[in-house]
Amino acid sequence: MFNFEFYNPTKIVFGTDTIAKLDQLVPADARVLILLGGESARKNGTLAEVRAALGAREVHEFNGIEPNPSYETLMGAVELIRKEKLDYLLAVGGGSVIDGTKFVAAAVPFDGEPWDILITHGRNVKAAMPFGTVLTLPATGSEMNEGSVITRKATHSKLAFMSAHVFPQFSILDPTKTLTLPTRQIANGVVDAYVHTIEQYLTYPANGMVQDRFAEGLLLSLIEIGPKVLANPNDYDLRANLMWVATQALNGLIGAGVPQDWSTHMLGHELTALYDIDHARTLAIVLPASLNVRREGKRAKLLQYAERVWNITEGTDDARIDAAIAKTAAFFEAMGIQTRLSDYDLATEAVDAVVNQLEKHGMTQLGEGQDVDLNVSRQILTAAL
Ligand code: NZQ
Ligand code: ZN
Repeated sequence: MFNFEFYNPTKIVFGTDTIAKLDQLVPADARVLILLGGESARKNGTLAEVRAALGAREVHEFNGIEPNPSYETLMGAVELIRKEKLDYLLAVGGGSVIDGTKFVAAAVPFDGEPWDILITHGRNVKAAMPFGTVLTLPATGSEMNEGSVITRKATHSKLAFMSAHVFPQFSILDPTKTLTLPTRQIANGVVDAYVHTIEQYLTYPANGMVQDRFAEGLLLSLIEIGPKVLANPNDYDLRANLMWVATQALNGLIGAGVPQDWSTHMLGHELTALYDIDHARTLAIVLPASLNVRREGKRAKLLQYAERVWNITEGTDDARIDAAIAKTAAFFEAMGIQTRLSDYDLATEAVDAVVNQLEKHGMTQLGEGQDVDLNVSRQILTAAL
């Protein structure tokens, strides 16, 4: 196992009727900005509950953070906070609203052009405003981590930043608030959490016994929960388990002390920025092709994954690896998510376009071995056609 430091200061408040706890979680004298996506939180009553819990505090709203939150939109919130001298942020929504809030929190006190936060991937963040979140979509883990992904529409750049300053102070996870999610978003959440786990597990052996077993537990839970949550959309326990799995998949725990990949995400971000494909769908396109192309470097872990997650024990090594990759793609397809570029009407021009963008963004040495160069990325994308 590698040396590591693990730090996660986010308080989780989990369960039904927990939004009322905002009254104790947000400072009594806070001047609050609630940040929101489109209409969902207003329509399903979540926003009204949040406002009621905040009581007599001064509360402003910033609406319209879009899926794949944009720098262009978020700078409007930065301006509002500076003008109204607000001092506490509350994200109410999915990963996009939370990621957007993290960027705003870091941008307000930032000295200089805030896009530099993304260019340096967060290394130059020295401070951030305090904030909490009310999660409405289990998927990204953003509610309990220090990462954020922001898009600059003008240049089709979707870049991530990380900073310990942008851990949420608290996150409220009330599974009943996810009951209004459309099927498409539930499926996206299952697949995103699955790929987060894979990015931290399916690399090369590092004797992280706890990390491996924990990751396998998350994968097995998602394989069990995924189809059931689609078939039983009103089942509270399924929603609760999905929500907790998705948080655990990317709160730093399973990735501590082990190698991490993340190349599937980096290729996926370019696909979203260029073609506006949902984040999870880009991962479902890239992952099976990537495992296939990179099977030598990942051989030992692929065999472990085949046996412990898919119970595949018969056949040659390569046959077991083939079967595990096929099972992975079939799982995504069973969630209603297609796994080939051609399913999204993309052909070879898209391969060239994504490789060009990867080069422009310096994504030329990706993966746990930093061996996913532009040539390997091209092979992966070509295999995904
Ligand atoms: O905008 P509204 O109207 O709220 O609707 C949203 C949005 O259209 C809707 N929704 C959310 N909660 C709902 C609901 N609809 C009905 N009922 C509810 N309870 O769902 C749609 C998608 O929301 P979004 O926040 O975009 O989805 P998700 O949580 O999947 O977030 C995706 C973003 O997170 C980034 C992705 O790149 C993408 O930009 N990621 C962030 C990560 C992180 N910070 O650690 C890691 C991930 O890998 C990922 O990259
Ligand atoms: Zn993701």
